Amino acid sequence: MVEGRAHEPEDVPRHVPVLPAEVLAFLGPRPGGCYCDGTVGGGGHAEALLAASAPDGVLLGVDRDGEALAAAADRLRPCGGRARRMHGDYRDLAALAAAAGLGPFDGILLDLGVSSLQFDDPSRGFSFRRDGPLDMRMDRAGGGPTAADLLRVAPPAELEAILRDFGEERWARRIARALAATRARGAIATTAELAGLVERAIPRRAWPPRIHPATRTFQALRIAVNRELEGLDAALADAAALLKPGGRLAAISFHSLEDRAVKTTFRRLAAERAMEILTRKPVTPGAGELAANPRARSAKLRAIARPIADCGIAEC
Ligand SMILES: C[S@@+](CC[C@H](N)C(=O)[O-])C[C@H]1O[C@@H](n2cnc3c(N)ncnc32)[C@H](O)[C@@H]1O
Repeated sequence: MVEGRAHEPEDVPRHVPVLPAEVLAFLGPRPGGCYCDGTVGGGGHAEALLAASAPDGVLLGVDRDGEALAAAADRLRPCGGRARRMHGDYRDLAALAAAAGLGPFDGILLDLGVSSLQFDDPSRGFSFRRDGPLDMRMDRAGGGPTAADLLRVAPPAELEAILRDFGEERWARRIARALAATRARGAIATTAELAGLVERAIPRRAWPPRIHPATRTFQALRIAVNRELEGLDAALADAAALLKPGGRLAAISFHSLEDRAVKTTFRRLAAERAMEILTRKPVTPGAGELAANPRARSAKLRAIARPIADCGIAEC
């Protein structure tokens, strides 16, 4: 299944956290608790966790996107010193938590993927609905290659593999060939150029019924540019290791590749008796949430808990 937030209608609310009640139900924030949002984004879930753990719960908000962190800072300002922020990658959560002097945690949230803030900003290049430079980097300050760079230098076979593996795009070969042929005439620099190329590469009769034909291509490039699936399983296991006994980890995914990584890792940790699974099946948004926030439609939440009897780590 492809990314829900990538093909949303225009008139949906911005910066609305997905599955907010479910996140609170699984993480169970309480006064005095210590929480971590490893993908703090616009700060929606973080705000809810801080409100539910008032007056003295603390939260570490991490994001690799400095612009998201600035938005979260605005939103969380009323929480004062209870809200702490670190710019970084959740794959380095142990080091970030140590640097912030926080942890182990009562609850950790990873709300994976791209935020509305990122999708809705044409200058970020994530959306085929908004023309802009083909950037797609979550961490622009990090200076890594953009999606346009990737399209300029990747061999056709690599482009095909990216589209197939990260977009589950059945027309991967055709699109990759069209990309390679086009760059001989000049670089693809904008989201509109890329969307138009994909529209022309896929036969019209084969366009997917409910999504834009470029949806899978945009998802695939975004995952490749940000290396989103690399080390996700290790990051989930590392996050679980940062929980106190009884602490909980919730992960929200938006496409099948992410959900598979979450499900497999959680099952492995449960088989090793390191963690208990709280969600036999993924939790999905109800009709009320979907009516109010159609962007939530691909969301799947899974949660695990560290057994109380496991006293392997010290209390903070
Ligand atoms: C779906 S949004 C989170 C929205 C947030 N829960 C809210 O309520 O506003 C995902 C966020 O995770 C960030 N992100 C994605 N991969 C990351 C990584 N490896 N490390 C840190 N942040 C990451 C993105 O920059 C984005 O801001």
